[in-house]
Amino acid sequence: MATLIKISEIAQYEGQEVTVRGWLYHRTDKGRLQFLQVRDGTGIVQCVAFKKELPAEQFEIARKLTQESSVVISGTVRADKRAPGVPGKFEIGISQLELLQMAEEYPIQPKEHGVEFLMDHRHLWVRSLRQWAILRIRATIIRTIRNWLDEHGYLLVDTPILTPAAGENTTTLFEIDYFGTPAYLAQTGQLYNEANMGAFGKVYCFGPTFRAEKSKTRRHLMEFWMVEPEMAFYDLEMLMDEEEQFVSAIVQTVLAQHRQELEILERDITRLENVKPPFARITYDEAVERLNALAAETDDPERKAELAITWGDDFGAPHETALAEMFDKPVFVYHYPTAAKAFYMQPVEGRPEVCRSVDLLAPEGYGEITGGSERIYDPDLLRQRIDEIGINPENYAWYLDLRRYGSVPHAGFGLGVERTVAWVCGLPHIRETIPYARMLNRLYP
Ligand code: 4AD
Ligand code: MG
Repeated sequence: MATLIKISEIAQYEGQEVTVRGWLYHRTDKGRLQFLQVRDGTGIVQCVAFKKELPAEQFEIARKLTQESSVVISGTVRADKRAPGVPGKFEIGISQLELLQMAEEYPIQPKEHGVEFLMDHRHLWVRSLRQWAILRIRATIIRTIRNWLDEHGYLLVDTPILTPAAGENTTTLFEIDYFGTPAYLAQTGQLYNEANMGAFGKVYCFGPTFRAEKSKTRRHLMEFWMVEPEMAFYDLEMLMDEEEQFVSAIVQTVLAQHRQELEILERDITRLENVKPPFARITYDEAVERLNALAAETDDPERKAELAITWGDDFGAPHETALAEMFDKPVFVYHYPTAAKAFYMQPVEGRPEVCRSVDLLAPEGYGEITGGSERIYDPDLLRQRIDEIGINPENYAWYLDLRRYGSVPHAGFGLGVERTVAWVCGLPHIRETIPYARMLNRLYP
């Protein structure tokens, strides 16, 4: 009797009769020999149909098998150093082939396709090897996030997706009709996290997050996943200490568990191996100085204009990339201008024009992967900031309550899963980091 196996475990079955169930990834026709690359979701194995070793009608099926047809194959596992596949080096000599469905002509061919075509066929594109590798790494990143936080004293406390008011920024809200009252898709769970922090000390929320900004960049999605830890009695330095441990754990876990996937993606891992604490920490002031110094050294006028920055402005992608290139691992930039950041950030004592905020910039041009800060915990100051930016204090009465009943210094941050995946996998665009990307011009499939 053949044993039903997962292709990822094929090395354990050398010389044995096995059964695999899956889809035809690719077929090479050598007449009396048909080389079938079969994938089952865990890997890809070469299955060889030899005319003499199969009933005639089964060999006929093998000869006609179309890409993505579904099959059940039994045969003997042989070691063969040249056998392609994932993990490879083993093949199956077919003794029995059962066809479940002969697939219609598959739209995604091994040849090159335009990216819009592939995105239109995302429901099928996810079957391709590169996408398989990326989404498996994504799953590990998400698992590591949960495990690390669970093991470091954080409690998962979910926050709502339907919310009555802005969490981050009023200009980037998706509005919906909530039985006649406007409601918004959550841009952040942070404000609720702060309430939960008061109940549990160290908490995190982890869910889909929505931003309606009409950005068409390789770093922005309309729907993305963000993990947000929030910690009582943490200051900015403790926040950075925690973040560098957390981010390093994510990268090192992927390196330990996904060599195969990183090879499929042709990712140069030397820069990732370097991602271990401590990370460099520079102030926004220093970052601006460094950028302007770099701009001054540059001869190319276009590049000069791209790099030069006025104190007070937020960084654009070229700024973040240039800053990150100055360091060999992720770099923290802290004490941003208060006016450029969210209303809840604690101003620096004696210098209220900057706040106790910090962004983590990833190397190799991947930009900001985390944003965080100390939160204002003085009720009067928080009320004043709400008035200054002109949001309705009635909507924030509950949030102000948090400062009335046992207010404590606290801090937190948010890490974007997709930007992290793009960086770790070395992808040029964020659209491949999530199974079904929601972008300015895309809501299908
Ligand atoms: O910097 P952001 O907007 O911070 C917050 O929302 C805070 N409330 C987090 C907190 O302190 N609890 O977003 C945090 C991270 C960014 O650094 C980035 O990685 C990601 O979320 N992000 C996006 N990722 C993809 N597409 C977008 N449109 C994103 N906007 C933010
Ligand atoms: Mg940010």
